[in-house]
Amino acid sequence: MNTRTSFKIYTSAIFCALIMHSCAYDENECVVVDVSYSNDIVPLLDEKCGSCHGASYPEADLNLTDYEVVSQTANNSKIIHRINLDLADDQLMPPNSPLTDCQIDLFTNWVEQGALNN
Ligand code: HEC
Repeated sequence: MNTRTSFKIYTSAIFCALIMHSCAYDENECVVVDVSYSNDIVPLLDEKCGSCHGASYPEADLNLTDYEVVSQTANNSKIIHRINLDLADDQLMPPNSPLTDCQIDLFTNWVEQGALNN
């Protein structure tokens, strides 16, 4: 293989690596600034809480599809308290399957930013 060919292979390998790196999902990435209720919080609650705290027959009479209920429960820190409990604690929400640190940060920041309906 001449030098020119190996240079080409080398540069295209770097190029591919760069592209793949930029497209790959970075699990350390956790973007929690400017949290939006409709874009960030609603999907999170739907996925993680909705099966039990939906609009019909919500557990603990807590309908987490209603902004007024969510913001009120967030502001009296009930939700923050429950999502931060240890796995061993039977009050943990969601039961037995904690949110990720990023999801907890997201929710906490939303509350700190005023629990807006944004
Ligand atoms: C598998 C069903 C289930 C899921 C999923 C679930 N919950 Fe619950 N939740 C319950 C039950 C049952 C209760 C009532 C018993 C208790 O207080 O632990 C409850 C109670 C609560 C309470 C206490 C309400 C009060 O008035 O004291 C909060 C706050 C809460 N859940 C928040 C959440 C949040 C936030 C999520 C999602 C991150 C979630 N839950 C996911 C079943 C669930």
